[in-house]
Amino acid sequence: MSDIYTPRQKSGYEQRLTKMLENPECYHEPHRPQFHFTPLFNWSNDPNGLVYHEGEYHLFFQHNPFGLEWGNSAWGHAVSSDLLHWRQLPVALWPDERGTIWSGSGVVDVRNRAGFQSGGESPMIVAYTYAGRYAKTAGPFTQAIAYSNDRGRSWTKYAHNPVLPNQSGGDDRDPKLLWCGITKEWVMVLYLEAGRRFGLYTSPDLKEWTYTGEIQGFHECPDLFELSVDGNQDNTRWIVMGADGDYLIGEFDGRRFTTESGKHHCDHGANFYAPQTFNDIPEADGRRIQIAWMDGGRYPGMPFTQQMSFPCELALRTFPEGIRLCRNPIREIENLYGNIVSFEDRDLVPGENPLEGLSGDLLDIQMEIEPYHAKEFGLRMGEVLVRYSMSDHTITYDGATAALSPESGRIKLRALMDRTSIEVFGNDGTISLTSCYLRKNSACPDLEIFVHGGNARIISLAVHELKSVWDSGDRKKRKQASSGQA
Ligand code: FRU
Repeated sequence: MSDIYTPRQKSGYEQRLTKMLENPECYHEPHRPQFHFTPLFNWSNDPNGLVYHEGEYHLFFQHNPFGLEWGNSAWGHAVSSDLLHWRQLPVALWPDERGTIWSGSGVVDVRNRAGFQSGGESPMIVAYTYAGRYAKTAGPFTQAIAYSNDRGRSWTKYAHNPVLPNQSGGDDRDPKLLWCGITKEWVMVLYLEAGRRFGLYTSPDLKEWTYTGEIQGFHECPDLFELSVDGNQDNTRWIVMGADGDYLIGEFDGRRFTTESGKHHCDHGANFYAPQTFNDIPEADGRRIQIAWMDGGRYPGMPFTQQMSFPCELALRTFPEGIRLCRNPIREIENLYGNIVSFEDRDLVPGENPLEGLSGDLLDIQMEIEPYHAKEFGLRMGEVLVRYSMSDHTITYDGATAALSPESGRIKLRALMDRTSIEVFGNDGTISLTSCYLRKNSACPDLEIFVHGGNARIISLAVHELKSVWDSGDRKKRKQASSGQA
């Protein structure tokens, strides 16, 4: 399939990438997140192809290489060895005559089942959607694969694409691949647009696919993965999740998913969409790490639009109401910690602000509160308020509300504050609210902890200053990586 963009257009993109990386001001613009991934320039949406391989996390993303608005969908690409410092590489998959390149996923074919391996290293394989309607020929939406034998630096589209023709008559899309240890086969979960459901398919080699069942009531960007309950490896459940973060808990036998719960919601914030978890994180690590698109953020005057959420580790925990998914920022964030202000065991009194005089715009704030006689308590970061109400046991932040019961009479609140986003976590990730914001004035946000209606007790409080990932990043390395030499 020949690409629809000329070599000149493509090298224009790469030249802009290299040139921007050479500019010392790059990544330091006023509305540029300092510890969240953003593309250097132009539009991005869903995280795609999240996979770990040979010491690197790969983050592909829906990308318009040529504009600040959605369109011309291609796969942008970045790599990181710690999920904090990302190096953007050239576009991995360009649109071609079959269509633009919509969302999908990535795996490492360690058994060389597809037969694409050419050297000593296992090939990386991605599955993506051809948005056929956006091609000149206005074809259907189909599913395709591409492979790389050089750690993702160059990609070859499979000669006999598509591997799955259109299934539902609608815009079927967003194939999520996983290896099933029970059946020793590949599994694809696919959004079937007509009927708003996820289709399940299996394959021995990622090329030939067989339909095995479906899961009703989901929209876009499927994910399907297994997690232990309360850290017990002998007690696991499967989670199926859609783009809006709704999820079901159940069993999966490699072919069919059987639910044992109603739908729950993974994140309650205003800007959380199209989450995906990494494939192939080594067993010795064993984490299930998720990144979402923080859709809808605003970045006036910036060369880029949209950002990714901070990577979170997922866990299943048992509560009185049943098993639920919890999201917590990955522990690597501690590598960004700078100065800290902290105290323990202290009364929080109405009208007093223990954080008086403190300000910051890159922060990890963690507090544990015993509410005692308080009617409400919370945290203010500049213009942004996070409130916990004792009357109905809810957290309210940026127009969203989430229920959160005290655990042993205490509430833990955590806020990750970057230049254009604040992610809030309650009781060790029992609830999360992922939201973007745009500062109205240029002053560095001041901080306040407040209580209304009576005293509360601060069990512990820590305000960690975070270092920008772009200050400690090695500029030369990033440049080499972007020209494919890393
Ligand atoms: C979700 C989505 C996907 C699609 C992609 C196109 O945000 O609509 O379903 O593949 O975006 O950019």
